[in-house]
Amino acid sequence: MKKAFIKSYGCQMNVYDAERMADVLSGESYTETDRIEEADLVILNTCHIREKAAEKVYSELGRVRVLKGERQAQGLDTKVVVAGCVAQAEGREILRRQPAVDVVVGPQSYHRLPELLRAPRGAVDTEFPVEDKFGHLAAPSAAKIQTRGISAFLTVQEGCDKFCTFCVVPYTRGAEMSRPVAQILAEAERLAGAGVREFTVIGQNVNAYHGEGPDGSPWTLARLLERLAEVPGIVRLRYTTSHPRDMNDDLVAAHRDLPALMPYLHLPVQSGSDAILDAMNRRHDADAYRRLIDRMRAARPDIALSSDFIVGFPGETDADFEDTMRLVRDVGFASAFSFKYSPRPGTPAAEIEAQVPEAVKSERLARLQELLEAQRQAFNRGTVGRVVEVLLEKPGRHPGQIAGKSPYLQAVQIETDAHRIGDVVPVLIERAGSNSLFGALESGPLTAAA
Ligand code: 5AD
Ligand code: SF4
Repeated sequence: MKKAFIKSYGCQMNVYDAERMADVLSGESYTETDRIEEADLVILNTCHIREKAAEKVYSELGRVRVLKGERQAQGLDTKVVVAGCVAQAEGREILRRQPAVDVVVGPQSYHRLPELLRAPRGAVDTEFPVEDKFGHLAAPSAAKIQTRGISAFLTVQEGCDKFCTFCVVPYTRGAEMSRPVAQILAEAERLAGAGVREFTVIGQNVNAYHGEGPDGSPWTLARLLERLAEVPGIVRLRYTTSHPRDMNDDLVAAHRDLPALMPYLHLPVQSGSDAILDAMNRRHDADAYRRLIDRMRAARPDIALSSDFIVGFPGETDADFEDTMRLVRDVGFASAFSFKYSPRPGTPAAEIEAQVPEAVKSERLARLQELLEAQRQAFNRGTVGRVVEVLLEKPGRHPGQIAGKSPYLQAVQIETDAHRIGDVVPVLIERAGSNSLFGALESGPLTAAA
């Protein structure tokens, strides 16, 4: 057996893709290793969403080149593959700049990895092929799934047609594409059969899902979630990432009607300023987002909200930024990601003259993050004293501890027997640390989450 080291950067989609690559490679006599020095194959699964992504990959590749040289001196061969969105964006340029690289492969072509590895050095595949990669990717083996645990990602949708002016996704991941329901169900049943209890259904614009149903008509995400809830063994469902414009009535209603669907929603708003939302081509204004949140809370009063924010988008004034702060105060988020705007080559916003100075971006980001962090901690403190259902996922930090997740995606540590991993148990939350909650198994009846 040869050894493969796969390093993933960026989003959950890359984590999922890395697992699929490992599955494909296991059919080629590769096992995974987490020690790069012993790897016969090194794959960097790259992300292009923010900052100087390409430059970071080149400096990482510089280090890989040194390793490859050292192994060569011992008579060992090392293949180096650049995958992911930087591979898609840079293509052949990577081979030119870094001679240690053997293969460049874009996200739509992972099923072709075995072929590319057998080709002479310099194979590049950044096509958006007409055939569907999912139909060609190897199914994960039961043993593999078990090592991956209780909660699994399930890709149902890929690519994006929204063209937000700051974003590279429509260029690196291509046009929006939904997998057919039957194909998703087959994968879901295999995962559940191997002990998976929770799916996080993923896609770059997941709530735009419109895959073909068994009856030939397109299914919505809500309908797919209802069906996934029926897969034996599955107790929890989550989905990410959603666009406000695609938050349809049936999906809102699913948060009221579908017990397996967890009360958590990651719904990026990016900005609270109408002028900036317009310049970002987000296709909704700040009040539409507020109204949508009202509808979500009407459907599921305890829903935990999460979002993404960009500060310092070109042309963002102090007043625009204050609108973002106001929106955050109005909504109240349980968690959030926030970033300084970074110009991505080839996107419309990168061409705008009025870029915001770095110091202004930093100052705004610090203020926004302080507010979001205070909200996160307040949300966590709000669960102290309550009994919540915890899905037990893995051994905890200390012996005798098990780590799990609350319905609101909070990490929870409790003392209990290891054999209960995979169970959903009522836990009285006793204390909120900075990154985890601590609680005790509740033996009495579950009191309803407030
Ligand atoms: N600059 C900063 N943040 C960005 N994001 C996407 N593109 C950029 C960019 N050019 C952020 C958005 C998105 C998240 C995944 O990354 O907030 O929702
Ligand atoms: Fe990028 Fe998301 Fe906008 Fe699509 S909806 S272009 S993935 S930010």
